Amino acid sequence: MNERPSNETREPNREAPSGIFAAAEMTPGEAVDPLIWTRIDTYLARNRAGAEGLIPLLHLAQATLGYLPAAVLEQIAARLGLPLVQVHGVVSFYHFFSTTPPAKYQLKVCMGTACFVRRARALSEAIRQVLGVDVGGVTKDQLFGLEEVRCLGSCGLAPVMTLNGDTHGNLKPGDARKLAFGLQAKARRERIIESVEERDG
Ligand code: FES
Repeated sequence: MNERPSNETREPNREAPSGIFAAAEMTPGEAVDPLIWTRIDTYLARNRAGAEGLIPLLHLAQATLGYLPAAVLEQIAARLGLPLVQVHGVVSFYHFFSTTPPAKYQLKVCMGTACFVRRARALSEAIRQVLGVDVGGVTKDQLFGLEEVRCLGSCGLAPVMTLNGDTHGNLKPGDARKLAFGLQAKARRERIIESVEERDG
C-alpha cells in the first residue's frame, strides 16, 4: 500500500479513543475521527474477536473514515490479537483498502493483466503528467489522487480506470488526458465559486 506523501501536514488527533482504546497510544500526527473507536467497540461487543473479524473491521473502518490510518490498523491488530504485519498484508492484498486519505477526485488505474497488456500504464502516465500527481500520491491541495490497482472486475472494458468509483473503460491515453484536463477545469470552476461565496458571505 502506498504511503502518504511527506508534504502533507495534519493536525494530531487530540481526541482520546473510548473503551479499551483509552489506554492505547495514538500514532503521532494521525488525525482520526473518534467515531471509529465507538464503531469498533460495538462490532467487537457483538462478534467474536479473532482473525475472522479482520476483514469486517477493515471494511468498517474504511467505510467510516474513507481510508485506513496507521493508528486504526494498530488498534485493530491489538484488539484481534493479530500481528500488525498480518493486518498490513491483508490491507495491501485487496485493492479496495487504502491507507491514504482519499483526494476529492480519486483516480484508480487498473494494472490487472487484461488492462496492463492494453497499455494501462500509459493511462496513469497521462494522468500523472496533466495533474502532477505521482502514483500512490495525492496533490498538496488534496484535489487529485492517483493509484494503480489490481483487477477492477471490468476486464471486458480493458483498459479501465475509475474516478471516485465510476468506471471508465476502453480508454486510450488521449482519453485519460482529456478526463484529467476536464477535472482540472472543474476544480478551477469550483474554486472560483467557493471564493465568490466566501467573499459574499
Ligand atoms: S484486469 Fe483491469 S479490470 Fe480486470
